[in-house]
Amino acid sequence: MKKLIVAILSVGALIAGVAQAELNNPGGTGGLDSLRGSTNLEDTRPADDFKHTPKDQLVESSYVYQPPLIPHQIRNYEVSLNANKCLACHSWKNAKEAGATKISVTHYMNREDAVLADMSPRRYFCLQCHVPQVDAQPLVGNDFERVDSLRTE
Ligand code: HEC
Ligand code: HEC
Repeated sequence: MKKLIVAILSVGALIAGVAQAELNNPGGTGGLDSLRGSTNLEDTRPADDFKHTPKDQLVESSYVYQPPLIPHQIRNYEVSLNANKCLACHSWKNAKEAGATKISVTHYMNREDAVLADMSPRRYFCLQCHVPQVDAQPLVGNDFERVDSLRTE
């Protein structure tokens, strides 16, 4: 008799556990559409195609002191402990020959604003601040506007 009660109780506990787990993680899409579209939570949807990077198009700034967007492809440009491909064109030494904009003097300043003889380590990893721009529609709408001083229309 005692064994039977224990058995019934444990089956009950198991069912309750499953029901609780389903409540916490309903699976499916939870009835919601998200940026992942209607892919179920537990599924991995196929990645989007690569977006097109516009060539040689300087994208205007939206606010003063914005790190300019990168107007060219950067695929296979290594930036690591051993090499910095960006500096091969953008350092003061190489910019003229490469026909590239040289990094501005802020890239030579340390955090006390002292100007160093070489590029400041805190500006070494260019992609922390500069990113390429692709030709894509925003995923969510926004009504951001340029600061007045940069507005051209
Ligand atoms: C082969 C040379 C070359 C390399 C390597 C290179 N760039 Fe450039 N970059 C240029 C040139 C030339 C321009 C000027 C605009 C143009 O003609 O595309 C430019 C423009 C830019 C600009 C825009 C500057 C402005 O005034 O608006 C940024 C930012 C930039 N590059 C960042 C980078 C970063 C970050 C890397 C490394 C991931 C990199 N570049 C690697 C040649 C290069
Ligand atoms: C911590 C953020 C940060 C990092 C890291 C950084 N930059 Fe910048 N960069 C900026 C900002 C902000 C500006 C715009 C204001 C200025 O010129 O200082 C800028 C401006 C520039 C410009 C335009 C200069 C001009 O005179 O118009 C170039 C080119 C550039 N950066 C290239 C690079 C490269 C190449 C690297 C890596 C070696 C790099 N930056 C790393 C923030 C950064």
